[in-house]
Amino acid sequence: MTTEPTPQDPSQPDAAELMSRDELEALQLARLRQTVAYAYERVPLYTRKFDDAGVHPSDLRELADLAKFPYTTKEDLRQEYPFGMFAVPQEKIARIHASSGTTGRPTVVGYTKHDLDVWASLVARCMRLSGVRPGMKVHVAYGYGLFTGGLGAHYGAEALGTTVIPMSGGQTEKQIQLIQDFEPDVIMCTPSYLLTLMDAMAQRGIDPRATSLKFGVLGAEPWTEEMRHELEAGLGIKACDIYGLSEVMGPGVAGESVETQDGNTIWEDHFRPEIIDPFDHTTVMPDGEPGELVFTALTKEALPIIRYRTKDLTRLLPGTARPAHRRMGRITGRSDDMIILRGVNMFPSQIEEIALRIPVLSPHFQLELTRSGRMDSLTIHIEPRENTSAEARAAAAAELKSQIKIHIGSSCAVHLAEPGSLERSSGKLRRIYDRR
Ligand code: DLL
Repeated sequence: MTTEPTPQDPSQPDAAELMSRDELEALQLARLRQTVAYAYERVPLYTRKFDDAGVHPSDLRELADLAKFPYTTKEDLRQEYPFGMFAVPQEKIARIHASSGTTGRPTVVGYTKHDLDVWASLVARCMRLSGVRPGMKVHVAYGYGLFTGGLGAHYGAEALGTTVIPMSGGQTEKQIQLIQDFEPDVIMCTPSYLLTLMDAMAQRGIDPRATSLKFGVLGAEPWTEEMRHELEAGLGIKACDIYGLSEVMGPGVAGESVETQDGNTIWEDHFRPEIIDPFDHTTVMPDGEPGELVFTALTKEALPIIRYRTKDLTRLLPGTARPAHRRMGRITGRSDDMIILRGVNMFPSQIEEIALRIPVLSPHFQLELTRSGRMDSLTIHIEPRENTSAEARAAAAAELKSQIKIHIGSSCAVHLAEPGSLERSSGKLRRIYDRR
């Protein structure tokens, strides 16, 4: 008699989440060897890259050997546009996504049916870790379409056994209406868009703390602990982070525990992370040291990706909620979002952190870079909170300027913008306006 395997109970952690570190590393090594060989055999770019670097899949005997293999960059994906990186024939590709980027050709990614199933299961894991349970109603306000946010969250929410409300991004009025009428327990969107929704509710006389929402699963852009506090206090919810990128999969590469709220747990049974020196780009840094995050996907069929340079700056931390799986620190920023102002490096998230510690200032700000002669200047346009006095606003602006000088080491100008005047986020928020 054959017995059907017991289906996984979606409300419980799965076996891989609970593995020991030794078991997990053994699994990683087996999968890594397989995926490196698979990429080398099936994707001409990898055949070429490995040959040029003088490495062969058989050189991968232990996990540390991964460092011998070349990186993959966004530029590689662009050059292979649209389908050159695919390792399976087109009829095996079940879905295509693309990320527009700021310049040039989009990067295109593909998924087999199996890839889509793995992706959904990992988003479901993240959601469960963040407090979401089967039977809850989930309002998805990430954009649907080529962006991986909407559909990624959607299929994860279905796999977990929730009721999905596929609202997509934008149409703030309608979002608020549906939140009131459908009474979702969970919202999934970017943190900056949740802020837009929260403010829009308040403007319409709706108490943002009185909605049915209990959990937020927020990501796709950098955000700070201060922003978490702003959203949790303003909406009366628990807000957790979720991380991912289209080249590696989409949302769900890592997610945050609602119990520990101490950064994203990376699903290391499917992704092997490394941190590399952000300056020399070759040295692999020990855990705890900051640098650029690099990922190798261990189980992807349609688009195997070896040592993908994310440009995201963070560090690897020991596992907590799922002890065998390491966490990543909050992303300070992307190396391409780094502002270099008269020799000082800074990120918008540092300014968010400082500004939100000053009670009179709101989280709505933009950074404008200008140049006159050879002199670069930064102006922070920031809205004070409503119902604050002119004196308090002026004092807050001076305080922001001085805190930035102390903590970042750079002088800047602060311009108080009229409350409600700065552009609001509808997805990934743009903070930097470089007019140099
Ligand atoms: O933003 C995937 C995603 C959708 C993640 C929804 C989470 C939620 P891309 O458009 O390819 O994919 O952009 C990936 O966004 O390299 C980071 O720079 C940034 N990013 C994503 N999640 C976070 C996060 C999606 N939690 C790029 N914190 C990444 C900080 C994030 N940055």
